[in-house]
Amino acid sequence: MTPTQLRSLRLPVMVAPMFLVSGPDMVIAAARSGVIGAFPTPNCRTTEELDTWMARIKAETKDAPGLWAVNLVTHRTNSRLADDLELVAKYQPPIVITALGSPAPAIETVHRYGGIVLADVVNVALGRKAAAAGADGLVAVSSGAGGHTGQVSPFAFISSLREMFEGIICVGGAISDGMGVAGAVAAGADLVYMGTRFLAAKESLAVPDYKAMVVGAETHDIVVSDVVTGTPASWLKPSLDANGYDINGEAQKTERNYGGSDLGKRWKDVWAAGQGVGAVKTSEPLSAIVDQIELDFRAAQTRLAGY
Ligand SMILES: Cc1cc2nc3c(=O)[nH]c(=O)nc-3n(C[C@H](O)[C@H](O)[C@H](O)COP(=O)(O)O)c2cc1C
Repeated sequence: MTPTQLRSLRLPVMVAPMFLVSGPDMVIAAARSGVIGAFPTPNCRTTEELDTWMARIKAETKDAPGLWAVNLVTHRTNSRLADDLELVAKYQPPIVITALGSPAPAIETVHRYGGIVLADVVNVALGRKAAAAGADGLVAVSSGAGGHTGQVSPFAFISSLREMFEGIICVGGAISDGMGVAGAVAAGADLVYMGTRFLAAKESLAVPDYKAMVVGAETHDIVVSDVVTGTPASWLKPSLDANGYDINGEAQKTERNYGGSDLGKRWKDVWAAGQGVGAVKTSEPLSAIVDQIELDFRAAQTRLAGY
């Protein structure tokens, strides 16, 4: 997929991969709605489960080819990376997103079948490294994002990446409606990464109480803290309070470990969301959310044309 091909999508949007939230129903619904769906491979407890998920997604997105992605953790502690890459070679997802490490381990496998690799980065220095490693695109996770967040303004981030990179630039971070999507594109992005806006979608794997908290939350309910995982992440404060976390307390001292540990348990009990949470007013089918984003995106295009 090239920046030009991205322009032929219904909307330049990817439903961002979310730990314990994105599953096959979400990815398939996204592709059928004309946007890109994605899931992180650690959402499958075993390689066998990942095999089943990818087989189903590939079969059920046949009519929307090119519109699904997997997110691989390339951090050295991920002991499953080699197995996950074998399945990537088998099912050939058109887009592979690497996170928490260099894109290098995925590039050869993905390029061999004609796919593209996007590297998730949280600052310009990491963007430069990922570009040098051969990534086809960069995902600029900016301030306000849900989960492990960046701290850089999306406008500054896109401008700096554009100066040194000609590939695909995807930007995420509190972009929760079609006006925001249009703004990001106007600022120079090719694609927009939207997680929080889809947290309460019917197809999301989030439990009902999590969805209800997202629907009821406003921007001021979001806090960034390293107290849960040792890395700054954006959480729903009421869920931190309910689990006894003190955001002014000591950061988790355990070594970062993305290959297992009790990290999953922590994400299961404490709920992540980004500053764009106020845009989520109800739990509805993913296709309805995309319809609304498109209406707002078109209105924003008209508004821009008036200047
Ligand atoms: C609940 C939740 C879980 C997430 N899990 C992951 C993950 O497993 N891997 C990853 O690369 N990013 C993860 N993210 C970050 C998203 O992929 C994306 O960067 C972010 O949602 C974009 O910002 P937004 O939430 O403001 O739209 C997660 C985000 C949320 C809200």
